[in-house]
Amino acid sequence: MTRTVLVTGGAGFIGSNLVRFLRRERPDWTVINLDKLTYAGNAESLAGLRQDPKHVFKCADIVDPEVVDALIRDHHVDAVLNLAAESHVDRSILGPGIFVETNVGGTQVLLDAARKGRVKRFVQVSTDEVYGSLGPSGRFTETSPLRPSSPYSASKAAADLLALSYAHTFGMDVVVTRCSNNYGPYQFPEKLIPLMIANALEGRKLPVYGDGLQVRDWIHVEDHCRALLLALECGKAGEIYNLGSDNEWPNLQIVRRLLEILGKGSELIEHVTDRPGHDRRYAIDAAKAHAELGWAPRIGFAEGLKSTVEWYVQNRGWWERVRTGEYRTYYERNYGAR
Ligand code: NAD
Ligand code: DAU
Repeated sequence: MTRTVLVTGGAGFIGSNLVRFLRRERPDWTVINLDKLTYAGNAESLAGLRQDPKHVFKCADIVDPEVVDALIRDHHVDAVLNLAAESHVDRSILGPGIFVETNVGGTQVLLDAARKGRVKRFVQVSTDEVYGSLGPSGRFTETSPLRPSSPYSASKAAADLLALSYAHTFGMDVVVTRCSNNYGPYQFPEKLIPLMIANALEGRKLPVYGDGLQVRDWIHVEDHCRALLLALECGKAGEIYNLGSDNEWPNLQIVRRLLEILGKGSELIEHVTDRPGHDRRYAIDAAKAHAELGWAPRIGFAEGLKSTVEWYVQNRGWWERVRTGEYRTYYERNYGAR
């Protein structure tokens, strides 16, 4: 079935990869891309799509109901994939307000507009961080209690609950996905993997929070994009799907692997003051997505990490251009006092 889908946050890391993925995998579909181009949004990440008549870019705020209503109505949008968000935990510690505004308020505006526009499906793209932190064993399932520990994850949990409440109360067709840590091309260099690659390439220190033994479950962004398309096409209304690659690593080992790939020495590693309220471990049980969506990740970590490093080496201009201005102010605020 030919569709017109609204992707929000389509100039961000996952969003820009998703827009490209959808145009490639579903060439008949039209993708409307709504993005405010915050510090994290980058029109350069969409350069290859500028001449594409089936990609329509709109620079606007998801919090603005008039714009969102008009987009859905004028383009006869029949599905929404909501990725627009403030996404960085450290920034949510420095300033939580915008996280509530965008992640909670924006999701509510989109849900209302989707309901009014009789959109057939709304996919709320969420995170494993809504479940909080794990001890040394166990994995999050879809029925794990919500125990978000940062302003970022609390705002994402609130948005999930709002989306599910629209399904329950108004009978809207909503699917929620909760994915683990993504890596890959076009990730903003404030997140662990691109930050460490960029700093190493510039001969700067690599700031590891605390003991560096916190564990994350890493998934290649392309595997996440494939799961989102399956959730849109095959997910059951009102359901939640956890997404992860069964690929847990302590941060310090990730940093060491990156240095190895880059041929740099471990003397660049610097342990700095830990992130306040730092979640110790995330791990995802994705059995439900395997069984119900027929999804499985395809990209192995060794291969994915190597190609990601290569991308940052070959696209130095892309990350050098964003490591100026606002980025430097943020970097100084976040790392200066550590
Ligand atoms: P990102 O920060 O790279 O991109 C977010 C995008 O949203 C940017 O392009 C930004 O301009 C846009 N945006 C922000 N506020 C907006 C607003 N008010 N109106 C319109 N656009 C706005 O984030 P990401 O890492 O690509 O994450 C995308 C989504 O996936 C988020 O909802 C995040 O919570 C979720 N998620 C991320 C990960 C991960 O590991 N990165 C894992 C699971 C879930
Ligand atoms: O789990 C999914 C989440 O993954 C997403 O919902 C978030 O949007 C995404 O940002 C990511 O959150 P994390 O906080 O896990 O990602 P980040 O890359 O910021 O940090 C990964 C780990 O590395 C974490 O334990 C903190 C640590 N870290 C991070 C930075 C930026 C450091 O040790 N040093 C750093 O400088």
